[in-house]
Amino acid sequence: MRLDKVLSNLKYGSRKDVKNMIKNGAVLVNGKAIFDADYKIDINCDKITLNGKEIYLKEHVYLAFYKPKGFLSSHKDEIHPSLFKFIKEPYNRYDLKIAGRLDHDAEGLMILTNDGSFIHEIVSPNRHVQKTYEILIDKAFKLSDKNKLLEGVEITLPDSSIHFTKALDLIFDENIVKMTIDEGKFHQVKKMMKSVGYEVLNLKRIQIGNLKLNLKEGAYQEIDKADVLG
Ligand code: URA
Repeated sequence: MRLDKVLSNLKYGSRKDVKNMIKNGAVLVNGKAIFDADYKIDINCDKITLNGKEIYLKEHVYLAFYKPKGFLSSHKDEIHPSLFKFIKEPYNRYDLKIAGRLDHDAEGLMILTNDGSFIHEIVSPNRHVQKTYEILIDKAFKLSDKNKLLEGVEITLPDSSIHFTKALDLIFDENIVKMTIDEGKFHQVKKMMKSVGYEVLNLKRIQIGNLKLNLKEGAYQEIDKADVLG
């Protein structure tokens, strides 16, 4: 990719700004000043410094993030703050997207990445990536309802169609349920719980694929995609 494009993609300035920085000798590639804006960069092995500071350069970044309750799984809203406010340098320079949303009032593990095909792998219904939720419900859970959820229940989707869905695994203790599913329909867990008569008071995603939640609220950590699907 062209040097000016790499720098402007990483939000170091407009294409015009970064062209000027390059012309003024502010940019080194592998220790050598480069004055050509169209110099070709190999993102996977070249080292770029800007004003003496090395740029964090990767084609794809993958972050595990603990979304706290009350934050939106999207960039903007007039009322609610976005989870992207937690993401700082250098990751906030990347065009990160969410691999599987969580409701505004839900918390827990999310994966943020600029790798579109990885997002597709995580959210695609055909891949059957498992997600585990810890669910606080409004009353003690009954064994008979575990069997119902494992056998399958019907939930109504936003387009009013009926969807048959199953829990893959479920353990419970009083009013705390840990349930694993391999789908991610809109409000899926809340609807599954409602179908057997419970209201969800708190919902926390604790695992996606092989990746377990191991972070403090609002914290994130760079991971490898093999940590999730490997
Ligand atoms: N199921 C829900 O109901 N909400 C979520 O945020 C995730 C799964």
